[in-house]
Amino acid sequence: MKNLVILISGSGSNMAAIARAAQKENWQDKLGVRIAAVISNKPEAPGLALARELGIATDALSHRDFSSREAFDAVLMARIERHAPQLVVLAGFMRILTPGFVQHYAGRLINIHPSLLPAFAGLHTHQRAIDLGCRVAGTTVHQVTAELDHGHILAQAAVPVLPGDTAETLAARVLTQEHLIYPQAVRSFFMRGA
Ligand code: GAR
Repeated sequence: MKNLVILISGSGSNMAAIARAAQKENWQDKLGVRIAAVISNKPEAPGLALARELGIATDALSHRDFSSREAFDAVLMARIERHAPQLVVLAGFMRILTPGFVQHYAGRLINIHPSLLPAFAGLHTHQRAIDLGCRVAGTTVHQVTAELDHGHILAQAAVPVLPGDTAETLAARVLTQEHLIYPQAVRSFFMRGA
């Protein structure tokens, strides 16, 4: 069985979309893939309860309990390694990872970012797109490399920016697309035989 570990920080709606696709499409029997655990750097993240409702084991590790990024990442890696995952999926995981962590998971660490990369790496992507007058926004699934929000692009989806959009309305439109492309990208990763 190939294990998948999902890292979250918040509501976990992308995690849930992946878990529901895994259930619906029977990844366990068809691909030999199971979601082994959902881990959050925020113990209060609503996504943890959602994961438990979906029958997935959860773990939490507050980054506030560590004095450095390196110390946090070392323990996070140990918690992930308990599941010996073939793929680690960042789904709204709002921490910058150290080069050592990224190197360890090179080629098997993916992220979803709420913009059409390489445009708008970093935070506040929707407000920045609106402020610049973009007509199109979107989302990108990409391999994680040491450089923030860079790395080979695996999937993208575009949505229109509509007159009167706020960061919230645009984020909601982008999120509906994320829930489609992220499960597809994860499935494709395993179908390539990784
Ligand atoms: C998603 O829109 C994701 O693209 C974004 O956070 C949201 C998480 O939602 N990720 C980033 O901004 C990463 N820098 P979710 O917790 O409901 O999946």
